Amino acid sequence: MNAPLPHVSPLAAFDAEWQRLDFLVWCLSRNRHGETIDEPEVARLRELQARVVALREPGGLWEATMGFGLTPVEYDVLVCVLAPELEPRLGWAFQNLQANGAQPWASRALIQELLALDVGQGELLRRALEPGATLRRRRLLRMEQDGPYRPIAPEPWVVARLTGRPLDLPPPPGATLVDQAAAWGDLVLPPSRIAMLREFLLWIEQRETVVEQWGGQSVGGPLALFAGPSGTGKTFAASVIANELGWRLYRVDLGRLVSKYVGETEENLNRLFDAAHGQPMVLQFDEADALFAKRGEVKEARDRYANMEVSHLLTRIEAHDGPCILTTNLRKQLDSAFTRRFQMVVEFPRPDAASRTELWQRLLPPRAPVAPALDRRFLADAVALTGGGIRNAALHAAYLAAGAGGAIGLAHIAHAVWRELAKEGREVNLQDLGPLAAYLPMEVANDD
Ligand SMILES: Nc1ncnc2c1ncn2[C@@H]1O[C@H](COP(=O)(O)OP(=O)(O)O)[C@@H](O)[C@H]1O
Ligand SMILES: [Mg+2]
Repeated sequence: MNAPLPHVSPLAAFDAEWQRLDFLVWCLSRNRHGETIDEPEVARLRELQARVVALREPGGLWEATMGFGLTPVEYDVLVCVLAPELEPRLGWAFQNLQANGAQPWASRALIQELLALDVGQGELLRRALEPGATLRRRRLLRMEQDGPYRPIAPEPWVVARLTGRPLDLPPPPGATLVDQAAAWGDLVLPPSRIAMLREFLLWIEQRETVVEQWGGQSVGGPLALFAGPSGTGKTFAASVIANELGWRLYRVDLGRLVSKYVGETEENLNRLFDAAHGQPMVLQFDEADALFAKRGEVKEARDRYANMEVSHLLTRIEAHDGPCILTTNLRKQLDSAFTRRFQMVVEFPRPDAASRTELWQRLLPPRAPVAPALDRRFLADAVALTGGGIRNAALHAAYLAAGAGGAIGLAHIAHAVWRELAKEGREVNLQDLGPLAAYLPMEVANDD
């Protein structure tokens, strides 16, 4: 299970950083007014300085919190960048100290002045903020544009990490939050598939034991492939896993991502993964076929570019340190070179008659009035819908019954199943309803 959130914000432990920065702000205002800093104040600054150095030591609080260490200049920048978010009074102070103070974020010019850096140190500061430098590469901060007077803001994940708050991001481009109640007991799948899903959960839950304590190799991920026709419960199963962990599930449509954002895809994905890193979230990538379907088929330069990007994408997903579930409707076209890259490959079958009975049982609204003649086994035998199809038909039947002001009867179900079958776009015949056909209202059957 995920660790309970600590009661005290871990932020308090960084207090020396904000106190020191507060002090530097005070010094700077005095300085700007031509006032001097006296010996007792210098002593106070030295004392704060020493406390800050202790936090920044290898193995110290910063490193423990972030998972990596930084240079002294980088820590100084990071603290200045985080301050307006974590200590709002410092945001006001920054705003007042900058001539164009319409926002609370410090610019490089302000940071340089705050830290009283000379020309040579200023150059170090400039380099620390270059696009390839650690602070940018690790996505600790963001600058809309380079330049000494541009505001520098922290990336939300750093703030979340330091405060111990869950990361409440707007979904990254192409991602949506999937928020549905779904538990093991709701999932209708063969026992072997449930077992595989539980094993996948072990890869997430027991990671600390296997990797940290037992020295097991850390392979990234874990990565699962859910393969099966639409409506067989792939997203539902992903929700069960996320709910079991108490984590959130984000869904990304890879097909859209790959085709719409050619060129920007990598940047978008990097943002997504940085946001997800170390966060209690499960990422689900739909239409994973986009990752392999077109491989090798190069017709124009754009295709080659897309191909390159696509194989890169899978590598990038693999490198992510957190659970990812890829889903696909096409099982047959997957070669073993592809499937070997997953810790778990789970096939989602179309439900058999026994499963469909279960699904009808669960998916009719639990408190709906239901006609006594409504035998779930009869419905299951009549038409081989997927779980998704049964869910839609059961709900549609409920609305029909509610509209008619009565209990859900076989006519409502026949009507709803007819509509569900017609959605697939092909011609629907009465035979497709099996024995349910006898209950289909004439006006529905003749209406096309
Ligand atoms: N195996 C299943 N067990 C329980 N419910 C299912 C199952 N398959 C589908 N459903 C129902 O159908 C809905 C749609 O299924 P979904 O998980 O979105 O399918 P997929 O992601 O495979 O296209 C689910 O929200 C759930 O209500
Ligand atoms: Mg789905």
